[in-house]
Amino acid sequence: MPLQKMNRWASKALEELSKNGTLKGQEDVIEKIQKPVQDIGPRYFIKGEADREFIKMDSNSYLGLSLHDDVIQAEENASREFGVGPGSVRFIHGTYRPHIELEKKLASFHAKEAAIIYSSAYSAVCGILSPLISPETIVISDELNHNCIINGIRIAKPQGKEIYSHLDMDDLEAKMKKSSGHCRRLLVVTDGVFSMRGDYPDLRKFVALAKKYNEDFEEGIVTVMDDSHGTGAYGETGRGTCEITHEFDVDIIVSTLGKSLGVNGGYAVTSHKIVKYLRETSPFYIYSNPITPGEAAAALQSLIILDSSTGKDMLKGMRKMVTFFKDELRKIGYEVLEGEHPIVAVMIRDGQKTTHLVDHLKKNGVLAVGLKYPVVPKGDECIRFQIGAAHTPKDIEHVLSVVEKHED
Ligand SMILES: Cc1ncc(COP(=O)(O)O)c(C=O)c1O
Repeated sequence: MPLQKMNRWASKALEELSKNGTLKGQEDVIEKIQKPVQDIGPRYFIKGEADREFIKMDSNSYLGLSLHDDVIQAEENASREFGVGPGSVRFIHGTYRPHIELEKKLASFHAKEAAIIYSSAYSAVCGILSPLISPETIVISDELNHNCIINGIRIAKPQGKEIYSHLDMDDLEAKMKKSSGHCRRLLVVTDGVFSMRGDYPDLRKFVALAKKYNEDFEEGIVTVMDDSHGTGAYGETGRGTCEITHEFDVDIIVSTLGKSLGVNGGYAVTSHKIVKYLRETSPFYIYSNPITPGEAAAALQSLIILDSSTGKDMLKGMRKMVTFFKDELRKIGYEVLEGEHPIVAVMIRDGQKTTHLVDHLKKNGVLAVGLKYPVVPKGDECIRFQIGAAHTPKDIEHVLSVVEKHED
């Protein structure tokens, strides 16, 4: 059989991952969801776990909109009207009314001129970086940027790449000065909210630096931010890192429809001209199907909810639970990072202890993620909880009681 040799090679590679502690292993399969009832949030049932119910404290669906009746209804209506798949890429009659309505709404939500939808935020990042990075562009990127940015830069093959220390604006400035006179264009890229710890850049400084050195480069400096964990999760109105830092002048914002907005897909918002250029040149847009009309209609409905008083109330309730959860964890004796983002990183600072706590949580019906070396540096091992608007204060109290029962 021709694959015998490759199968042996794959076995070895998997053994290596297991030895390094980076093997993700068998994926849990969710077989049933019990919808929220009164003061109890949604519960999840996993294959092989009999009738045990789980609280998901590792969901990116921060606002719980994936289970919202109006969002589900919007998807169903559009699917009945247009079918469940686009049938082709955007420029070959794969553009449906919900795509256009969603792009309009995304642009106005972020106060930008135009939006372009991709099939995921991952492909949005890769999709915008390669057309915007010329062979005479140097890219400067935060060392902890998401994997999609790292690979997006690789695909784009820039003239040069500089990595600055995480969130270190002095280092970013040094790298900008170093690039001056060596390329025609500079592209500076960062995550908004970083997914591991919920921290974010000083965006005012980030933008101010780009403005300060813009004239040093013939084609200027382009600022790009991927705020997949910020949109719909952070700020009083869910406008993410821009809202938290009061800085809205980032040239291009990329985000996902698959976290707070509860659906699937990704997008970029920026000027009319750049969007027009991307529609003509971005391979991830041109040669790949868009999200379905149903997904576009559902994401539009999510944005309408987010942009209403209901959305603001959801965000407010979530912030309250985050503060309560963090305060109580500290009282129990855990080290918890500062901030109001629903990502709650509990620093355990030991790989084995992290594993024990994650196992204890799961045994007691709580799903959370342990981050260990080499995913995080040695000594930074932590548990990442994610709070969502679908949780109830009673759910959070229950999770705390489980944590409290844990013995090292
Ligand atoms: C910063 C960031 N960008 C992009 C993505 C990918 O989003 P999507 O699932 O829409 O591709 C993620 C999700 O893990 C993320 O955290």
